[in-house]
Parts: sequence; C-alpha cells; structure tokens
Amino acid sequence: MTNKNYKRYTVTSALPYANGPLHIGHLAGAYLPADIFVRHLRLQKKDVVYVCGSDEHGAAITIKAKKEGTTPQAIIDQYHHQIKKSFEDFGIAFDIYHRTSAPIHHDLSKEFFLNLYEKGEFIEKFSDQYFDEEFQQFLADRYIIGTCPNCGNDNAYGDQCEKCGTSLSPTELVNPRSTLSGNKPILKPTKHWYLPLDKYQPWLEEWLLEGKKDSWKTNVYGQCSSWLKQGLQPRSMTRDLDWGIDVPLMEAEGKKLYVWLDAPIGYISATKQWAIDNDKDWQLYWKKQENEADNSCLIHFIGKDNIVFHCITFPSILNAHGDYILPENVPANEFLNLEGDKLSTSRNHAVWLHEYLEEFPNKQDELRYVLTSIMPETSDSEFTWKDYQARVNNELVAIFGNFVNRVMILMHKYFDGKVLGGEKLKDETLATHIETAYADIDKYLTDYKFRNAIASLMDVARLGNKYLTEKEPWKTFKENPEETREVLQNCLHIIAHLTILSQAFLPHSSKKLATMLNIAVADKSYNEVIVFSDGHQLNPASLLFEKVEDEQVERQLAKLAVKKEEAKAANSPALVPAKANISFDDFASLDIRTGKILTAEKVAKTKKLLKLTVDTGLDQRTVVSGIAEFFAPESIVGQQVSILINLEPREIKGILSQGMILMAENSDGKLTFVAPKEEFGVGSVVR
Ligand code: MF3
Ligand code: ZN
Repeated sequence: MTNKNYKRYTVTSALPYANGPLHIGHLAGAYLPADIFVRHLRLQKKDVVYVCGSDEHGAAITIKAKKEGTTPQAIIDQYHHQIKKSFEDFGIAFDIYHRTSAPIHHDLSKEFFLNLYEKGEFIEKFSDQYFDEEFQQFLADRYIIGTCPNCGNDNAYGDQCEKCGTSLSPTELVNPRSTLSGNKPILKPTKHWYLPLDKYQPWLEEWLLEGKKDSWKTNVYGQCSSWLKQGLQPRSMTRDLDWGIDVPLMEAEGKKLYVWLDAPIGYISATKQWAIDNDKDWQLYWKKQENEADNSCLIHFIGKDNIVFHCITFPSILNAHGDYILPENVPANEFLNLEGDKLSTSRNHAVWLHEYLEEFPNKQDELRYVLTSIMPETSDSEFTWKDYQARVNNELVAIFGNFVNRVMILMHKYFDGKVLGGEKLKDETLATHIETAYADIDKYLTDYKFRNAIASLMDVARLGNKYLTEKEPWKTFKENPEETREVLQNCLHIIAHLTILSQAFLPHSSKKLATMLNIAVADKSYNEVIVFSDGHQLNPASLLFEKVEDEQVERQLAKLAVKKEEAKAANSPALVPAKANISFDDFASLDIRTGKILTAEKVAKTKKLLKLTVDTGLDQRTVVSGIAEFFAPESIVGQQVSILINLEPREIKGILSQGMILMAENSDGKLTFVAPKEEFGVGSVVR
C-alpha cells in the first residue's frame, strides 16, 4: 500500500460538533479506527501526530443554543469538555484535542481565506438567498430544510443531504422551509464569496479519479466519482450568520466564514497548537517539503456524511493555497445502526458513551472490541445488545480472559508465580503462528481492515487457549513437572505477545496484562520481544474481562424503549388550537357531499399529488389531492369520500382541480378519509 513508505504521518479524526455528547456511532465511525491506526504506527516507532478537536461554529451550534434557550458559547463550553472527557475515557490517544473557538484557529482560518482571496480564487457574487421574514435572518445550511433533488429525502439541509451525501445549495432544495419559523422563505439578495469547484474539476479528476482509484476504499471513491460525474458547482464559503469566524474583508462586515471552510483548517490549527506546546515544527506535518519524499502522509478518518468535504472541498482549498500536502487517503466508514434503527441524537436513539460507562464502569475495552469487530467499514452495520453480550462472553471472556486466567493461576499454583528467565517461545508452531499474526495485523491495518485485524488478535488468544487445553499441564505436574513448566512458560510468552499486540486495540486490557506479568509495556514497540529475567515474579491473577449478564442486556433494551416513548411524546405536536368562531351562514355556505373515487393516477413529476375523478352525484369531476404518499392510486378506486364541491376551482400542475376531498390528519402526519362508514351512495349532503 502506498502509505507504507512515508516517514511521517498526520492523522486526523473528524472534529465533532460541540452540540451534544458522543455515542457509539461516533466512536465506531471516525475515532476508534484512527486511534487503532495511530497506536499501530506508534508501536512501529513511526513519527506521527494525531489531531482532533471540537467543531464549534456553524448552525449546528446556534440552533442547539436556541433550542435550549442559551448562548452558543455556553453550548460549546459544556459539550467541548464532555466530549473531550469521553475520548479520554475510551483511550482515544490524540496528541491534542483542540477547539475551533481558539484564537489561533480564527487567525489561521482568516489567513487561508485571505490567501485564496488575494490569489483571486473566489467568485464574488450577489445572488438571491432564502430569508425568513419572521425571524429577519438569512437561511443557510441547517436553517433551511427541504426535499433533496437527488434522493428525495424530505429533510435535506441547505448545504448537504445527509442521506445521500450530496452537497447542496439552499436554492436546489425542493419545497424549502425555514427551520426557525417553519414558513416558506422569501428570496433576498446578498453578496458571497464562492469557491469555484467547477474550475477545479479537471484537477480533481486527475488527482482523485485517476490517482486514488486503487488506494481508496470503494465506498469513498464511488461517492466521489458520482459527484464528479454530475459536475461540480461553485460553493459559497461565506455566510450571513452572527456566530463563527469573521470574514476578514471590510466589505463583508457581519458575515462569517462557512463552517466547512474553517472546520478542516482546525486540523492544521490543532497541529500548530500541539507544536507550540511540544516544541515541534508543525510545518513538517502539513506543508510540502522541498523533497517530495519528505512529505508527511495525511490521513483523514471520518464518517460517510463528511466525504464530500474531505475529498472534494478541502483538498481543493489546500491545492488552491498551494503550500499544503493533500490527503493520501480518506478511509471513511459507513454508518452504525442500533437495534434495527438509525442512531439518532434528536430521537435520543443512541448509546451515549458517558451513559455506557455509568452502566459498565471500566468496560471501555469491551466496547472497543465489539465496535471494532462490527465496524461499518464497507457498509452500514448494526450494534445490538445481544450481540454485544455474545461477543464479550464468548470471545473476550471465554477465550482471551479464560486463557490468561488459567495460565496465571497455574503459574502461581505450581511455581509461586516465578518465571524461568532467558527463554522465548519453545514451540515452533506457536512461534510461527504468532509471527504471522504480527504480519497479518500490520497488513490489515495498513489496508484499513480493522475487523480482520482484531480477529487476528483474537486468533492469538484462541491459539493460546487451544494449546493450553490440549497440553493439559495440570495433568503432567505430578509425573513431569518439567513439561508443565515448559507449557506454562510458552503460554506466558503468548500472553506477553498479547500484551504488545493488544496495545493498539484494547489499551486498557494491555495495561492490565502488563501489570499481571509485572512488566512495563508503555514504550514497547512491536520489535521489542519481552524477555523475562530469571526468577521474575508475576503479580496475582486478576480478571481481564467479566461476563455480561442477561439482566444487563435487558436493562439496556428497556432503557432504549423508554427513550423511544419519550421521544415520541416530545415530538408529537400539541393539538392544533381552535380557530375563531364563524356564523351559521358561513358554515351553511359550504357544500359538502358524499362522493366516490372513480379513477386515480399519479400526477407526473410530483411526489405528493394524485389526480382523481370523483362522482359527486351531480357530476363527475377532477380533483387534485396531495395524498399520493399515503395511498397507492389503485387502492382508493371505489373509496367513498366527503367532497367540498363549491370550492373555487384551482389549477394545480396544469390540471384544473374542482373541489377538495376531506381528510383527517393525526399528529404523526398520517391521513385518513372522512367518509360514511357504510355504503351510502353519492350526492348526499354532509352537514
Ligand atoms: N463537525 C462535523 C460533523 O460532525 C465534522 C467536521 S470534520 C472537519 O459532521 F473537517 F471539519 F474537521
Ligand atoms: Zn439526498
């Protein structure tokens, strides 16, 4: 693989928005793989910097603040610290966890903008943008939602559809609506600075389509090539917002940088801060070196909703700037689902990392193990508590933990926990297996195949467990204590290898193993074989992993069910308030009749509309009705209805609609016909 020959590595994990706590989907998507990858590089004594931080700008933050009735600053302060702590708790070994509200980051972002501005890269353009009159605010990004023109997702954001990943402009949304007032926005002119992605397209085709064909994951490469095929459009890099980094131009007063311009620059500013704190040169990790062979290898770990920004936009910015290296790889993961449903912050359908640790204290590695084993590397995958339990009990406890525990106990029982020194593994087959495991893990991790890599680690434990079971050293002790000694010593060496090999995957357990073996592993690299001195004293055995009980699983499932109910209750809107009184004459002026649907067909190029022919008793007339998402046309032919027949006819999509079918709508948005229960005949008056 291409990233093998680099002497230096710059590894990043997506900066999480500081607008909520972290859940298992975050961990499995962008942090656990990067952490394992980086730990692996460090074990090879590679020069690597691993940076991350909180993403503290953009509508994600201001919308959250508004919802909670507080300030954006209060939101980012709260969540920055909570997120940072969760990462520490789970052993995500950043060299720095920074934040984009830091002055050093504001300065660098402005510098980037000005660099491109002075080169004349931006297109300056007045254009009509959506504006919420009630709130007197332009509606960018998450302030506006609508239907994605690409995949039909009804809740696409103004800058991106998170369902299909496509990057969007608000004006591309079908049926745009303001998330502030819910109103249909008006258009109002405003000036912005656009990155000419269309101009960079030929360069992207060469750098990415040609250059990354063989090295990038197919899920990533496929998305990129489909966007490039559609053709790229200029993207605005500025916003009319009051939270974010000021656009450093006099004429742009009050405007802010687009959050997706500043956030990835956060990787660089974080590195700068780390370099200041550690007396390093940040430029070695980010800038092109005189000799290309000295360039750092830049790798972005992200989730799939971030692909467009890391593979298209940010590289274009780096390239336009000119001084910077470009990503060697962007091994994005797909999504993790939970118990048959999408993870969702707004619906509170999640396993939050801080809550997990309350329920399962000190069981970080159990979660790391399960999430790595089911990592959504090539397609979406699913976390269930039953599966979690099975993997912990049948693999970590029954194989890994059981092996270690038996060896430790037997060593203490027969030899007072004293090791004979000097020797290594005295079994060719075992030695070969273990050597292969080192090579396999390296190969898999270099290829971003984390599931395979952790399976290879588990295979070493399995090998040990099997060897111990087959040799039965407890049976030989009486007649042949030498043999018992040799078998157990071999097992100890396997445990020593497990200690080293598990550092990247299960760092907390690796420490426990080291403590049991009474050795220091902190700085051990893969190349340092652990050699015991003669008479080396082992520490007492302690349990590496504990069984997950059925009750614990049940409790977690019950908890999710409660969250589901709560979310349902919170999301079901209050009943629509009563309208003002009307006179009897007003009511009597409505001419509502019983009718029957004779024909129904979809209105071409619309999602919601059906064209109906309705028998009203007086005539057969055409009605256009917005019920196509709820009823298949063929299923409602013959349906009895109530129809308002004296509504002023209206042209809808070129069809004259003469009347209105009465429908009831519940709080879930579900529709049902308001019509006689029994066969009633057409033309009867409804009053
Ligand atoms: N905050 C973004 C998200 O959660 C990710 C930003 S990644 C970076 O989707 F490139 F901006 F750093
Ligand atoms: Zn879409």
